[in-house]
Amino acid sequence: MQDGNVTQGMARPLGGERYTSREFMEAEWENVWTKTWLLTIRADDIPEDGDFMVEEIGRESILIVRQKDGSIKAFYNVCQHRGNKLVHEPEGSMPSFTCAYHSWRFEIDGTCSYAQDPEDFAGGDPCPHASLVEVECDVFAGFVWINMDPDCAPLKDSLGQIWDEWQAYPLEKMVRVQAMSVKMPCNWKLLMDNFHETYHLPTAHPEGIEYAEDHYSQTPLTLFDNGHALGQTHCCLPADRLPESKPRMTKPIEADLKAWDLDPADFLGREKDARKAVQAQKRKLAPERGLSHYDRLSDDQLTDVFHYTVFPNFATSLNADGMLFLRSLPDRTDPEKCVFDCWYYLFGASSSHINLVTAGGEGAITEAKREVIEFGEKSLGVVLDGDAWVMAGQQEGMRSRGYRGAILARQERRVAQYHDMIDRYIDGYRPAPRGAREAA
Ligand code: FES
Ligand SMILES: [Fe+2]
Repeated sequence: MQDGNVTQGMARPLGGERYTSREFMEAEWENVWTKTWLLTIRADDIPEDGDFMVEEIGRESILIVRQKDGSIKAFYNVCQHRGNKLVHEPEGSMPSFTCAYHSWRFEIDGTCSYAQDPEDFAGGDPCPHASLVEVECDVFAGFVWINMDPDCAPLKDSLGQIWDEWQAYPLEKMVRVQAMSVKMPCNWKLLMDNFHETYHLPTAHPEGIEYAEDHYSQTPLTLFDNGHALGQTHCCLPADRLPESKPRMTKPIEADLKAWDLDPADFLGREKDARKAVQAQKRKLAPERGLSHYDRLSDDQLTDVFHYTVFPNFATSLNADGMLFLRSLPDRTDPEKCVFDCWYYLFGASSSHINLVTAGGEGAITEAKREVIEFGEKSLGVVLDGDAWVMAGQQEGMRSRGYRGAILARQERRVAQYHDMIDRYIDGYRPAPRGAREAA
C-alpha cells in the first residue's frame, strides 16, 4: 500500500467494467443479490393478515404477506402454472391471490388452493405440488429483510455488530417523512461507493462545514465483518476549515441550540462548545419531551451522525432523531441504471440534520407515500442533489477508454472493503453463523 492506493491486493482491479458489463452484473446477481439479506418494506406497512406489498429487486418480484398467525412470509411473485406474474399491484390486502391468466389461486400462506379443470392434469389436481416458492424472511429494526438463498446464515449473524448497535435507536417506531425513488442513469454500486466515503464532502457538500466536521482525521471509521461498515461524523459544530471570513455561529447550529432552549449568544467565540452543550441539554430535557430512547444513546450519538453501510445495497445516516434511508436497487437488465430510494424517517424530535438531507426539511413533516421520479426531475435536498449529480457523471466515465480504475486514499478504504467483499462473494464467500465464526 506504499503508493497510498488501498485497492492494491484486491482480487480484481476497480475498473469501469464493474459498472458497465452485463457479465459482471450477472455474476453479482448470482452471487451477491441472491445470496445476501436485503432490506425491504416496513413490517407495519402490512399490519393485518392478507395485507401485502411487492418489492421489485432487479429481475425478481418479491411478494411479502402478513399471515394469520401474525408472522410474515415472502414469496417469489410468480404463478406456478406457467410463470405469469401473480400480483401486479404494489400493495393491498387480499384473502388470496388469483392469477389473471388461468385463475389458479394461492392462499396467503403460499399454498395453491385452486387449479382450473384439475381432472385434466395427469396425476390429478396439481395444487398439492404447486405452492408458491418461499424466500427467507426476517424482521429487524421494523424492516422486513429477505434472502433468496435458502441456505443463508441467519440475518442476526449476517449483520453482526449492527444488530446490537441499532438496538439503541427506536427503529421500530418511526414516521417516514420523505420517500423519493429516483430512476438513476448509473450502476447501483456508484451510489454505494459514494455512501462509503467522506472524501467527497468538501467538494460535493460544501454547505456541510457549517454543521459538521468533515475532515478525515476526525471521522472515525470501523470496518465490520461481512462487508458492513460505519463512519461517525461529529455534528452541531463548525468544521475546522470553515473560512475565517464566515460567522462560526452558523444557522444550523443556531437552530439546534434554540431547539434545545439554549441561547446562541452564549456560544459566540466558543461555537465548537455547542455540540457538548446540546448533548447535555438533550439528556436533561429528554424526559419532558418524551424522548426515552435518548437514555440508550451515548453522548456522541445525541448529536453525531453514525453512517452505517449494510452490505450490499443499504446505507443509513442514523442520528438521535431520525434515519436517512439510502437504498440502491439494480435494474432488471441494464447495468447502467438503478433505483435510488432516498427516504427519511423521524423518531420524534426534529434536528438540523433533516434540513440538510431532505427536500422539504422541517416544514414537510407529514407521513410520506413513495414517489417514483426520474433523475433530475425534483430536488432531493441540497446534500443528496450533490451526490446524485456526481453519480450520473461518474457513470459516463466508467465507459471511457481513458479511465484506468480507481486510485483510493486511505480514507476511502470502506470503498475498497466493499468491492473486495463483492469479489469475495463472487468467488464463493458466504457469511457463517455467529457461533461457527466464534468457534473457528
Ligand atoms: S399462468 Fe397463472 S394460472 Fe396460468
Ligand atoms: Fe454525499
